[in-house]
Amino acid sequence: MNAIAAVSLDWGIGQGNGLLFHISEDMRRFRALTTGGTVLMGRRTLDSMPNGRPLPQRRNIVLTRQPDFHREGVEVVHSIQEALALAGEDAWVIGGGEIYAALLPYCRRCYITRVYAQPACDTFFPDLDRLPQWRLFRSEPVCGGEEPAYQFVEYIQPCPAGSGGI
Ligand SMILES: NC(=O)c1ccc[n+]([C@@H]2O[C@H](COP(=O)([O-])OP(=O)(O)OC[C@H]3O[C@@H](n4cnc5c(N)ncnc54)[C@H](OP(=O)(O)O)[C@@H]3O)[C@@H](O)[C@H]2O)c1
Repeated sequence: MNAIAAVSLDWGIGQGNGLLFHISEDMRRFRALTTGGTVLMGRRTLDSMPNGRPLPQRRNIVLTRQPDFHREGVEVVHSIQEALALAGEDAWVIGGGEIYAALLPYCRRCYITRVYAQPACDTFFPDLDRLPQWRLFRSEPVCGGEEPAYQFVEYIQPCPAGSGGI
């Protein structure tokens, strides 16, 4: 599976159960990459979406520990193992902080939007530059047209957990 996130300079991703940034080109890219596929998220990220609704034109899988949780248009799982079994190899891990941290070992690629800003935040993505199993694979030029500046970068983990690699 792959993860996708927009992070601030200190790898912040959220504040008060909301996003830090609304960069239209980033949103477009997120939609283009994930539409038609499977997205996997934590219950808090689902609740942060408009009206708590799942993303359209995608299969939405949501992790929660609440045994009786139901939401229209959502498949509910209660453990990481159940999520892995249901989501499959091509799924997108779309947040938030708890779910990125839990599923990162199983991801092969991370599509990161580095935003050159450092707003206050209470939720973070793991700092991939400090994790030796991850390496920077590709970076696109910094885009300066929109405020703040941002850059699409891609990290890879050659042997994710469960891939059979050594
Ligand atoms: N910048 C970005 O790209 C990006 C993307 C997505 C989200 N975000 C931000 O991230 C923040 C939300 O992240 P978060 O860390 O607070 O919450 P989260 O990861 O979205 O969801 C956490 C919830 O997932 C469930 N959960 C976690 N681990 C589980 C496990 N092992 N088994 C079963 N269920 C499990 C629990 O739900 P229950 O409490 O229901 O049991 C837990 O409260 C928001 O600010 C959001 O805007 C940012």
